[in-house]
Amino acid sequence: MIDFTLTDEQELIRNTVREFAQEHLAPGVIERDDKAIFPAEQIKIMADLGFMGMMIPEKWGGSGIDTRSYVLALEEISAVDASAAVIMSVNNSLVCQLLFDWGTNEQKEKYLIPLAKGKKLGAYSLSEPQSGSDASNMRTFAEKNGTHYILNGTKNWVTSGQTSDVVIVFCLTEKGVGYKGISAFIVGKGLKGLSVGKKEDKLGIRASDTCELYFEDCQIPVENLIGEEGQGFKVALKTLSGGRIGIASQALGIARAALDASISYANERHQFGQPIGEFGAIQNKIADMATEIDAARLLIWRAAHLKDLGKPFKKEASMAKLYASSVAMRASRECVQIHGGYGYMQEYGVERLMRDAKITQIYEGTSEIQQLVIAKELLKK
Ligand code: CAA
Repeated sequence: MIDFTLTDEQELIRNTVREFAQEHLAPGVIERDDKAIFPAEQIKIMADLGFMGMMIPEKWGGSGIDTRSYVLALEEISAVDASAAVIMSVNNSLVCQLLFDWGTNEQKEKYLIPLAKGKKLGAYSLSEPQSGSDASNMRTFAEKNGTHYILNGTKNWVTSGQTSDVVIVFCLTEKGVGYKGISAFIVGKGLKGLSVGKKEDKLGIRASDTCELYFEDCQIPVENLIGEEGQGFKVALKTLSGGRIGIASQALGIARAALDASISYANERHQFGQPIGEFGAIQNKIADMATEIDAARLLIWRAAHLKDLGKPFKKEASMAKLYASSVAMRASRECVQIHGGYGYMQEYGVERLMRDAKITQIYEGTSEIQQLVIAKELLKK
């Protein structure tokens, strides 16, 4: 049975992260978004505080906390800076968790420890220009040649593609057998033949870098294969289920920031001789936002709880992401509406919430893909 009260430890984590976000992320967040500046100093402090490998046991460089505590932390980071949140989420949920679940002890020693400590930054590279939602339709190919695989192809939309040190790359090792021909590799950034594309100019999460990666006859040592040949798609999708809990938490943080800003503004802004919060039109919006935010949080906590129990959570993670991302979009849109003309101006910081919210309906599986995953699970015979 899920317990809605937080333990003393969980409260401490939430409060520590909240204070960190106010002190270190809030200053400059508008400028970093405007100029697309990677929050390098802030990520370094997050690493020192143990935020980059939160769910990984201390033995492997992490903080050893549960998923429930992790989602609390991610909500707090996202409420202030959604760019820092996605950098954190990818490193934690997609890279560290994947290496912890599937890596050999040698791979964990060499890659997981520095990644979980935040000494190195990780990226996860699944998509290609022709394969987004249809993730298994990839072309990047690695051919085995003795002690190495020779990797050729193009990957795109790689979060932290420029700033990362290590990338988990999914590619074909056998053609013509569908997803069963996909394998996963650990790729170090300095590799000969690997070049990084230009930083994409994005609508939101602008302080996080996204770019293409080009592989030209890159030699990947055989010991960098994760799991077995042909297991890559399962590695990718199982890991993505955890990632979706992270993105749902990012959406929740954005939505909560929109609610907090709306409440403050509704109390301080006077029109027609009274605070606008005394008008039913504004009250209805705030009441709906708060209700939807609580519902999203409960879906996220349920998915996190199931993951912590070691039970299946694929459907619940997709439900949490599907719902929380639509709540983030609605709440941020209403927040701008409540702020009126000021909301449309960059300096008030709420138009950014609306721009940042949109990506949560797209990456780590679009809303339509989440619906597909949920429906497939429900219709299973
Ligand atoms: N866990 C474990 N196994 C899974 C799984 C999961 N979550 N989902 C599917 N599988 C298994 C299936 O059971 C099946 O195996 P069997 O044949 O043994 O039963 C196999 O994988 C293939 O499954 P499907 O037939 O369902 O595969 P599909 O090709 O029809 O596609 C999909 C499934 C759900 C559409 C999947 O392709 C998908 O999730 N697409 C979205 C991709 C995505 O989320 N991309 C995000 C990019 S990463 C990113 O955004 C990160 C970032 O930088 C922020």
